Amino acid sequence: MVYISNLSDHVDEEVTLKGWVYNYRSSGSLYFVEMRDGSGICQCVVAQDAVSEDAWEQTEALRQETSLEITGKVVEDERSIGGHELQVSDLNIYQVAEDYPITPKEHGVEFLMENRHLWLRSQKQWAAMRVRNEIIYAIHTFFQERGFVQMDAPIFTGNAAEGTTNLFETEYFDDQAYLTQSGQLYGEAMAMAHGLIYTFGPTFRAEKSKTRRHLTEFWMIEPEMAFYDLDMNMDLAEDFIKFIVKRVLDRRPKELEILERDTSKLQKTAEEGFPRISYTEAVEQLKSDDMAAMLDQMVADRKQEVEELKEEREEIEKERGQAKKWRKAQIDERVIEIGKRLDEIEENLRNIPDWRESALNFEWGQDFGGSDETLLTMKYDTPVLVHRFPAAIKAFYMKRDPENEKLALACDMLAPEGYGEIIGGSEREEDLETLRKRINEHGLDEDIFSWYMDLRQYGSVPHSGFGLGLERTVAWLCGLDHVRETIPFPRMMGRLTP
Ligand code: 4AD
Ligand code: MG
Repeated sequence: MVYISNLSDHVDEEVTLKGWVYNYRSSGSLYFVEMRDGSGICQCVVAQDAVSEDAWEQTEALRQETSLEITGKVVEDERSIGGHELQVSDLNIYQVAEDYPITPKEHGVEFLMENRHLWLRSQKQWAAMRVRNEIIYAIHTFFQERGFVQMDAPIFTGNAAEGTTNLFETEYFDDQAYLTQSGQLYGEAMAMAHGLIYTFGPTFRAEKSKTRRHLTEFWMIEPEMAFYDLDMNMDLAEDFIKFIVKRVLDRRPKELEILERDTSKLQKTAEEGFPRISYTEAVEQLKSDDMAAMLDQMVADRKQEVEELKEEREEIEKERGQAKKWRKAQIDERVIEIGKRLDEIEENLRNIPDWRESALNFEWGQDFGGSDETLLTMKYDTPVLVHRFPAAIKAFYMKRDPENEKLALACDMLAPEGYGEIIGGSEREEDLETLRKRINEHGLDEDIFSWYMDLRQYGSVPHSGFGLGLERTVAWLCGLDHVRETIPFPRMMGRLTP
């Protein structure tokens, strides 16, 4: 089989492509068919006088998403989508598609989510899934090349790793079980057997919040390392993210272009060191005069952008009357773009006062909200590592800072451009009696954790680890504004189908 992605190996040859009609237009005795085959899109030109009568009849029957095979000569064509064009000599339909519900016109996101099984075929969705795949490949490569052993943690569990408020309960014969929130505790056991391990599996949280960062079912990657302290943990997390970002930039430039991703900040992430600040410093930053000034500047910048966009729109709309057909289409597209950007800015301008309020009134001891995370990363182009959080807002298994009992040796990585927390991790409590005390303080049942406490009895060692949220990483790298487009079939509050 020849795939569109490999057409450069077949220039001037006759090939047969199998796929679907992505788009088509006709002008008399010519048809321009944009065919997609999963690997890419290729423009196929059918000329009535170059094909049989039967093939021409089939061409005239084409509809969007009709499945077919097309034979023709591959010619290089820089202006063509994908850089090649097929001069068609024959064409055979598998099935003429019914009227396809997703047309090139604008659709609401609810409609698209209802048709997620079809929406996956659209260019941007296709590109995002390719980036997701590249990230997954990069994650395995990174760890495998460094001697980590991949482990599968159980999905049914009897214990809560990350607090009891967002557990999915399920029946387990006569018992009660939960869907796992994290593979970490099992990862710790495996790390005591193999030294360096990572999990890569689905995790579940009954998140009642409908935000652009939360799914109820998401995929988490959790490395766990024996003999690592917090600093080594953060070093690894930074190397890991750099590796992923580099890979995606190197290997998926075409997909990032389809997604219209501005890659300048990703480039910096691949090259520059990530700032590390303590939670306490982060709180000071939020409440600082600098932050207030930065927000004022942001409001001013946005207002100016609004002016500029409106001016541009006025000008091109004036031009439209006399414009040629191709230019009209260009103008219409730009007007839609401008409209979208204006909506975005308007929402932004509505939110900034709340963000400001939340930042300036932030009290030491609180957890950061989404907007606080956005503000904390605003002055950086790379992710930021925040470490040493108040122990009271973190999980029971985290080791305390020997310099300050109120602090946990935790670290979060916040992605820039408003994407927020992508990694959460810590050094783990390795002392048996201290761990027992924490379990009780958190109101958890000691019996359920007896196996976990065993790890502190039989050769306990310092160890650390972290968890990366795959979907948030995909959203950030693709520049998508909601995690629902980062996984083939998202599960969120209020969505279980398709
Ligand atoms: O910070 P979290 O809760 O950490 C843990 O679960 C630890 N056990 C990890 C470890 O130390 N081994 O979750 C880790 C990451 C978050 O930073 C976020 O990226 C992602 O998982 N995440 C979610 N992603 C999508 N939807 C949700 N509801 C998420 N909750 C967490
Ligand atoms: Mg977290």
